[in-house]
Amino acid sequence: MAGRQLACFITKRTGSRSLTDDPQRSGPPLLEVRDLNVRFGARGRSGEVTAVRGLSFSIAPGEILGLIGESGSGKTTVARAVMGLVRSATGSIRLQGREMLGLSERELRKVRRRLHLIFQDPYDSLHPGMRIREIVEEAMKIHRTGDRAHRTATVSAALEDVGLTPSSRFIERYPYQLSGGQRQRVAIARAMVLDPALVLADEPTSMLDLSLRSGILEILKRHRDTSGTGYLFITHDLALARHLCDRIAVMFGGKLVELGPTEAVITNPLHPYTKLLLQAVEELAPPAPQEPGGYRVSYPSGRVKECCATIDPELQEIAPGHYVACDQDDRSIPDKSLLEKEE
Ligand SMILES: Nc1ncnc2c1ncn2[C@@H]1O[C@H](COP(=O)(O)OP(=O)(O)OP(=O)(O)O)[C@@H](O)[C@H]1O
Ligand SMILES: [Mg+2]
Repeated sequence: MAGRQLACFITKRTGSRSLTDDPQRSGPPLLEVRDLNVRFGARGRSGEVTAVRGLSFSIAPGEILGLIGESGSGKTTVARAVMGLVRSATGSIRLQGREMLGLSERELRKVRRRLHLIFQDPYDSLHPGMRIREIVEEAMKIHRTGDRAHRTATVSAALEDVGLTPSSRFIERYPYQLSGGQRQRVAIARAMVLDPALVLADEPTSMLDLSLRSGILEILKRHRDTSGTGYLFITHDLALARHLCDRIAVMFGGKLVELGPTEAVITNPLHPYTKLLLQAVEELAPPAPQEPGGYRVSYPSGRVKECCATIDPELQEIAPGHYVACDQDDRSIPDKSLLEKEE
């Protein structure tokens, strides 16, 4: 009951500022997701999966928002929903103020010009039968951008930008003639040629070794700095998120459980799952999908702690721009020591 009272209080507290906006930024958001829900499978049937529950966040122009969370927590589903690829999505997804949910396929194609999805696996995302020039050029052709000479010049410049120099060495090759890191650079070059308003990058560096990873992160940062493009950057890697992202959103069991400025989330994590991620403790039992919000934290000692089992807490702002959804009583003090004692 106390939890329900708290939830009412939370709704009032957010006042005029939209929940989950970054208080450091003014101006309209680039992307605004409100109360996003995604179910797969027929409702009420066995096999139904609630992949995303009541998710709200926004991304400002030029902002990199990191989306982290365990495997299966719904991160890719969020990116696919933003791309308009998930028909069962409900709620609201506004890109530059325009509602995307409910658009026809024709209208969506136009909106997608302002979006780009970079996949985890460069092997999957590049057509093996196409030359690098064709791959990078393809999106420009589909969207009828410029003539052939303009397109070739744009492709060369983009390849040079991502460090594939001289571009003449790469432009006529096929994907199998490149290394994994070079292929991912091609995927990023392709994302950049259309200068999208928003890039959705789904684990784009997880298959790369450390040296390539940092090179690619620098490319993405530079692109953000020069173009003002916003990024939703999905990763399992907190160190990487710390290096790259302005804010971090943490998903757990289809729900956003923490959101805040990167340094605040890393140095002062509030949700038990974020704390466990930071401590690299992996003994976290999977959430039960039929019990909204309920989950268990298992500690190496064998102790099990039930969290949020009876209520489904909403995000509450604990410090400016730092939100957590958790039914623990003491929210204001980071209880790292308590967590350590539990272990
Ligand atoms: N098309 C689909 N049909 C049915 N279930 C799906 C579908 N796509 C995803 N799911 C389920 O939705 C949940 C979230 O999946 P999602 O791919 O979004 O997770 P993720 O956070 O990206 O995981 P990972 O870190 O492993 O990539 C999972 O339980 C998954 O099995
Ligand atoms: Mg995924």
